[in-house]
Amino acid sequence: MTSADVLILGGGSGGYACALRSAELRLSVILIDKDKLGGTCLHRGCIPTKALLHAAEVADSSRESENFGVKTTLEGIDMPKVNEYRDGVVARLYKGLQGLVKSRNVTFIEGEGKLVAPNTVEVNGVNYTGKNVVLATGSYAKSIPGLEISGRIMTSDQALNLDYVPASVIVLGGGVIGVEFASVWKSFGADVTILEGLPHLVPNEDISVSKALERAYRKRGINFTLGTKFASATQSDTGVEVTLEDGKILSAELLLVAVGRGPNTANMGFEDNGVATERGWVVVNERLATNIPGIFAVGDITPGLQLAHRGFQHGIFVAEEIAGLNPVVIADINIPKVTYCEPEVASVGMNEEEARAAFGDEVNVYEYNLGGNGKSQILGTAGFIKLVAQKDGPVVGIHMVGSRVGEQIGEAQLIVNWEAYPEDVATLIHAHPTQNEAMGEAHLALAGKPLHAHA
Ligand code: NAI
Repeated sequence: MTSADVLILGGGSGGYACALRSAELRLSVILIDKDKLGGTCLHRGCIPTKALLHAAEVADSSRESENFGVKTTLEGIDMPKVNEYRDGVVARLYKGLQGLVKSRNVTFIEGEGKLVAPNTVEVNGVNYTGKNVVLATGSYAKSIPGLEISGRIMTSDQALNLDYVPASVIVLGGGVIGVEFASVWKSFGADVTILEGLPHLVPNEDISVSKALERAYRKRGINFTLGTKFASATQSDTGVEVTLEDGKILSAELLLVAVGRGPNTANMGFEDNGVATERGWVVVNERLATNIPGIFAVGDITPGLQLAHRGFQHGIFVAEEIAGLNPVVIADINIPKVTYCEPEVASVGMNEEEARAAFGDEVNVYEYNLGGNGKSQILGTAGFIKLVAQKDGPVVGIHMVGSRVGEQIGEAQLIVNWEAYPEDVATLIHAHPTQNEAMGEAHLALAGKPLHAHA
């Protein structure tokens, strides 16, 4: 098959979700990828890193087991074995995904595609055409000008494949990738220092969450400098030396560069065929249409949050749009975010600062401390669930920090996206003893009837 209703370039989260949903809607689909189906998320991102984070949790449990009266000794980290476990997880999911795509009659073309006309992608000399074209070519790990990625200076792509635990690491960037890798390496026994140019770790989160994570990292012995920009780095056979703009010099075995991801849009014929881009990002309207009729773009190549589940949602949205189902637009602000470091960070909706900018004094905020939550005490974690609501109105943001709080994001995103009022949630029952109870308690308190909460 060389022509289809939907021609998709890129088989990552955005592209394959679009393929599967289009096929469900009885549209014919061609999906093109130069690499393995599943993209960054499955092969170099979400899944393998979360496997490492789980291994890190097991290491912490072994190291700290005496706190629970269980005697174990952490002998060490067998990195090849950790990687084998991780690769097994990825391989099983990859096999399942290939099966899914096949069973829905999606034509998968392996090879490097280039847009050669607004409705045509060329792969290895063969032209494929689509009534609709969906660009879904994802993102790549960026560096900063003058900082070459090679040897001991690496991005998450290389860091994921290390077959040893470094003795010491400097992590450039205290965003999501930076704090997650710092968490893994510290749990595996490395000496870790994060360099963040802005005044806080995870600077896109509510400031109270950033501060709580900083406290927790200090307690874990993870070093960090905030508010000072990186100046330069050199490497030798034995290590790296990093200079900050204030003149401070740090050295370590490795440098991880985690300063953001850029859109993968160069040399693929997008601009040549008139597709508007801005600093490499494909410009789309809120319905994910580009300026060229019939061409859509989804996921990380569009400006906004770079998250796999945003890619899935974009892919499904575009399939439904093409099928004429008029799907509902979800604003980026209401997309749930989870950072899987220890302790975890999870949030959805406006943070306090954004809500105050939007509603002035008409904002209610409540922070439920996990100190009052039975299950969190059992696990030995500190943290909180913070609600941001409009006065006499709905909850517009939920912000959490603490071990395992990422699992609470499901209810949080329903509350925010369904525009629930605190009293709506307060009437519902949260099972005891779960960490989820803290979500219920926070809403009880904001509805004026706190139970296990002081004041
Ligand atoms: P990021 O944008 O989250 O963080 C980059 C950090 O580097 C920022 O805090 C920035 O201030 C800092 N920075 C940039 N230049 C600097 C300099 N010269 N000196 C010091 N600090 C500097 O990007 P990151 O962590 O690389 O992640 C890329 C994308 O992947 C993000 O959009 C992230 O959301 C996504 N991702 C999501 C995950 C999740 O949902 N759990 C996991 C990993 C990545």
